[in-house]
Amino acid sequence: MNYKFTSRNEIDTMELAQNLESEKFPNMVICLDGELGSGKTVFVKGFASALGINDNITSPTFNLVKEYISGELPLFHMDMYRVEENDNNIGIEDYFIRNGVTIIEWSELISNLLPEERLDIKIKVIDENTRVLVLEPHGTIYEEICSSVL
Ligand SMILES: Nc1ncnc2c1ncn2[C@@H]1O[C@H](COP(=O)(O)OP(=O)(O)O)[C@@H](O)[C@H]1O
Ligand SMILES: [Mg+2]
Repeated sequence: MNYKFTSRNEIDTMELAQNLESEKFPNMVICLDGELGSGKTVFVKGFASALGINDNITSPTFNLVKEYISGELPLFHMDMYRVEENDNNIGIEDYFIRNGVTIIEWSELISNLLPEERLDIKIKVIDENTRVLVLEPHGTIYEEICSSVL
């Protein structure tokens, strides 16, 4: 079952992320897809602040992954926008079992590397401030999280 959430502004998107954060567990994986400017990084900022991370969150550009370890759980923030098709040795899978939360922007570009159990969030831009977020849980634990948060 998919869940639709309409976000009217940046705060709504951050709040959704914060509510999902309250259901966090070690090795949680959240995949964000949607055009540039749809709010993927805004979502990560909301999640990070709820984890208690005070660092400024910016998209990883050179390394594909940024690690934040000052929160309740480690946060691994990935952005695959610039991933090369033949980057088959990037070690992404290692992060999924390091007991943190992994959030991946542009996850569709590494769809073959994603774990089976995960939460996919597709973000659609409706107008300047409106976004529709479609949450697609894969696996019982993510289904339970979605039904309790939405
Ligand atoms: N409902 C909304 N949710 C998230 N961001 C929004 C929303 N409405 C407007 N915005 C703006 O859209 C932009 C999203 O930027 P960003 O999160 O960096 O996008 P992405 O990481 O998807 O490229 C920000 O400037 C933000 O203020
Ligand atoms: Mg981004």
